Amino acid sequence: MTAVKTDPSHDVRDLRLADEGRRRTEWAERFMPVVRQIRERFAQEQPLQGKRLSACLHVTSETANLAITLQEGGADVALCASNPLSTQDDVAAYLARDHGVKVYAIKGESNESYYRHIQQALAHQPDLTMDDGADLVSALHMIALQRLDDLAPPVRSWVETLSASQRQRLVSGVIGSTEETTTGVIRLKAMAQDGVLQFPVIAVNDSQTKHLFDNRYGTGQSTIDGILRATNVLMAGSTVVVAGYGWCGRGVAMRARGAGADVIVTEVDPLRALEARMDGYRVMPLGEAALVGDLFVTLTGNLHVIRLQHLRAMKDGAIIANAGHFNVEIDLEGLAQVAKGPKPARPFVEEWVLDGKRLYVLGEGRLINLAAAEGHPASVMDLSFANQALAAEHLVRHGGSLTKAVHRIPGEIDQRVARLKLAAMGIAIDSLTPEQQQYLASWEAGT
Ligand SMILES: NC(=O)c1ccc[n+]([C@@H]2O[C@H](COP(=O)([O-])OP(=O)(O)OC[C@H]3O[C@@H](n4cnc5c(N)ncnc54)[C@H](O)[C@@H]3O)[C@@H](O)[C@H]2O)c1
Repeated sequence: MTAVKTDPSHDVRDLRLADEGRRRTEWAERFMPVVRQIRERFAQEQPLQGKRLSACLHVTSETANLAITLQEGGADVALCASNPLSTQDDVAAYLARDHGVKVYAIKGESNESYYRHIQQALAHQPDLTMDDGADLVSALHMIALQRLDDLAPPVRSWVETLSASQRQRLVSGVIGSTEETTTGVIRLKAMAQDGVLQFPVIAVNDSQTKHLFDNRYGTGQSTIDGILRATNVLMAGSTVVVAGYGWCGRGVAMRARGAGADVIVTEVDPLRALEARMDGYRVMPLGEAALVGDLFVTLTGNLHVIRLQHLRAMKDGAIIANAGHFNVEIDLEGLAQVAKGPKPARPFVEEWVLDGKRLYVLGEGRLINLAAAEGHPASVMDLSFANQALAAEHLVRHGGSLTKAVHRIPGEIDQRVARLKLAAMGIAIDSLTPEQQQYLASWEAGT
């Protein structure tokens, strides 16, 4: 069987940006002590030796630290973006120039370029894949299921040049995959449910040391950061509507309130709605919130949460942003059909005029914390990417015995990551006495 033709070693905006990317990556590294420790161990033990790994992640300074760690562990890494707007071009240049990572990512790239880069990461013929949103793995599955019509054109035209055995090898060669975010995990669980999942997947998002911290504190802070950088609005005294009170929504609501906003939560889940109310927020349907909100943020992982009827009800000057994974939470296609625009107002701010009222959509409805800011702070990505690195190691060690399903990282790894982080923060905690251990394991003792 002939090998799949591999692609050029990188496609980045400008390699001359690499020095700035190095500085930025080194700055992030200062806040990533857990990943640093894993990197040191990986360099010695080489757990990923000889493995080709294709990652589809936001190409940021924190991801650079993960990619370097994986390379140090012996992997040959290809990296493409998991969103057309989230790439830091200087970081991409640094990884390509100084670390030999095959980076295919350019900030602001077209859909065509985005999928061509996914194709290039696939041409790396991965043993392991790492996704943030499951775009890479979905493409692999469309190939496995011979659903070429469902592939984006750049991937499809490449797949058509492959022989049947090359296509088969592309999928069967994958030991397993890891998934970073809620939306990706939902897609992968749907694949498992449909019985089409081709290899085991580790849901990194489901680790406690991921979603409790990254989704809540990371998204909470960086979403507000993105909105402020894009608009420079005053949060104090404004009414902020948070759609979705999951891990991300809780974080954004908490930080918006901390900045002085009056926060309204909208939900479809009665438990989460109740929790939001008892956390002290106003809860109401979006149709009502639309009338009073100054700033709207969607964090649901769902489709068309803000629809035309809501947009029509909003006040003149309302600002609308999304921090959920895909740019489908705001019905921008519907808006484009009836409103005038878009007219650029500021970087990452577009003005639409609907029924004589001005509406401002941020970052084309893409995750605003990555479009207009720098994504999560490194300190929280330290936890997420420690999980990613350890999940890759786990797949190499145990992938052969895992079923073709969506798995969680073993609880012991979660505990280890939390302990390492606490130690790096200089925080010691108590441990159970033998008497307490026995008490907690027994049922006989009452009052
Ligand atoms: N911006 C980032 O950096 C970042 C980071 C992590 C996760 N994410 C993404 O953010 C999204 C949310 O993630 P999460 O971990 O909070 O998920 P989650 O499942 O914990 O929460 C989502 C919430 O949205 C609610 N919801 C669904 N449809 C709704 C609707 N129509 N109206 C109101 N509420 C609705 C659900 O009931 C749920 O409570 C996902 O797409 C995830 O991939 C983004």
